[in-house]
Amino acid sequence: MEFNRIQGANNRIVLGLIGCGGMGAANMRNLMGKDGVEVAALCDVDTSRMGGDIADVEKKYGRKPEIFRDYRKMLERKDIDAIIVGTPDHWHALNLIHTVEAGKDAYCEKPISHNLVEARTMAKAVAHHKKIVQVGTWQRSGKEFTDAISFVRNNKLGSKIVLVRAWRTDGSQVGNDKPSAPPATLDYDMWIGPAAMTPYAPNHVHGNWRWFLNTGTGMTGDWGVHMLDIALLGMSATNQDLVMPHSVSAYGGKLAFPTDGRTAPDTVEAIFHFKNPDFIMTWSTGRDYPDKPDCGVEFVAADGKFVRVWRGGWSVHAPNGELIPKEGSPAVNDHWQNWLDGVRTRTQTRSSLASMAQTTAVCHLANIAYLCGETVHFDKTKMDLVGNTGRNTTSYWREYRKPWKLPTYK
Ligand SMILES: NC(=O)c1ccc[n+]([C@@H]2O[C@H](COP(=O)([O-])OP(=O)(O)OC[C@H]3O[C@@H](n4cnc5c(N)ncnc54)[C@H](O)[C@@H]3O)[C@@H](O)[C@H]2O)c1
Repeated sequence: MEFNRIQGANNRIVLGLIGCGGMGAANMRNLMGKDGVEVAALCDVDTSRMGGDIADVEKKYGRKPEIFRDYRKMLERKDIDAIIVGTPDHWHALNLIHTVEAGKDAYCEKPISHNLVEARTMAKAVAHHKKIVQVGTWQRSGKEFTDAISFVRNNKLGSKIVLVRAWRTDGSQVGNDKPSAPPATLDYDMWIGPAAMTPYAPNHVHGNWRWFLNTGTGMTGDWGVHMLDIALLGMSATNQDLVMPHSVSAYGGKLAFPTDGRTAPDTVEAIFHFKNPDFIMTWSTGRDYPDKPDCGVEFVAADGKFVRVWRGGWSVHAPNGELIPKEGSPAVNDHWQNWLDGVRTRTQTRSSLASMAQTTAVCHLANIAYLCGETVHFDKTKMDLVGNTGRNTTSYWREYRKPWKLPTYK
């Protein structure tokens, strides 16, 4: 069944979902709760992951969604207006670029890409095709985060910010499963897609792919993209164009769990240097942060006062740590509604692809610096490394496994 194609104020938006895992399905359910939305099709390379989603769509709309294994076939449906990209990080670039090339808008999960060149190419593709994309960094719509960002942006601390810290505890381990035959439900070749082919093992796929740098970006991409995003937003004048570092150093390793199967470091300290405004930003991930929430951001001013924000709250402190009174800002609409409004009115979303290409690039810079073991330098205008240092890391770029090819956008 094809739906009549619609666009424009108050019209129904017909959706397809690529990747029916944890977050793809959560996004779909959030959007199914909104007015004027219909889910028409679902795509996953593992049929075992789709059962609950098919049932929920059928219950809500009184008909089964069309089911696909190859997302390119789903994109051929002219009546689908927009796509939710809920695949692992190594698939986002191709899923998203093919979506906008098919004339559709997208809700794309974070980090937007697996490497820096992909992020830059995705931003160019979305701009070229004039599509409305919301990235799944929903913290940008969360009250504690909008309050803290507004407080910092409006200079309510009273003196200039000199240090911004972002952190997230990481104690994840994936074990050491032996390679085995993939389950009959999973098309493993299509799951690996453009990444390097590695033997199937249960602990490499669903959910766990983020701890392998072949398919994920480690904690720096997974949570750094949320927390560093808030750090960058606080130091930027708007959500749409972010301050970017000019040099980045990072050290880390598999220090806490050296025998665990994960390839991403379990401990990382990254330092980012900014000019104009001049400040230092740090990213820490590893075992624990005593006396602090397990994730958060702190903005420290020259006089020692600081703002702290985390999932669940925010606070303002005197240099000795005592609480100072604070004032918030008006609440904004939720992240999924903000995307639907953007699609209907053709206006920029709160987590636009272009601005999230910047935050994602900052995460990749930390991974590049960690992988090459040297300080890397960045040119914001070119969205590129300065010089050759870091270019031979997979967080900068990699050749796709054939036949997959990253499209070129000038
Ligand atoms: N915004 C958030 O707060 C948040 C939270 C969790 C995850 N995420 C992001 O959501 C994305 C998915 O993460 P997850 O934890 O749900 O992963 P997951 O492994 O649970 O789900 C991914 C799904 O994609 C499917 N898939 C893989 N390749 C595919 C392809 N080529 N075509 C169709 N389906 C394919 C897999 O079979 C799997 O069902 C990641 O980018 C992750 O970073 C965001």
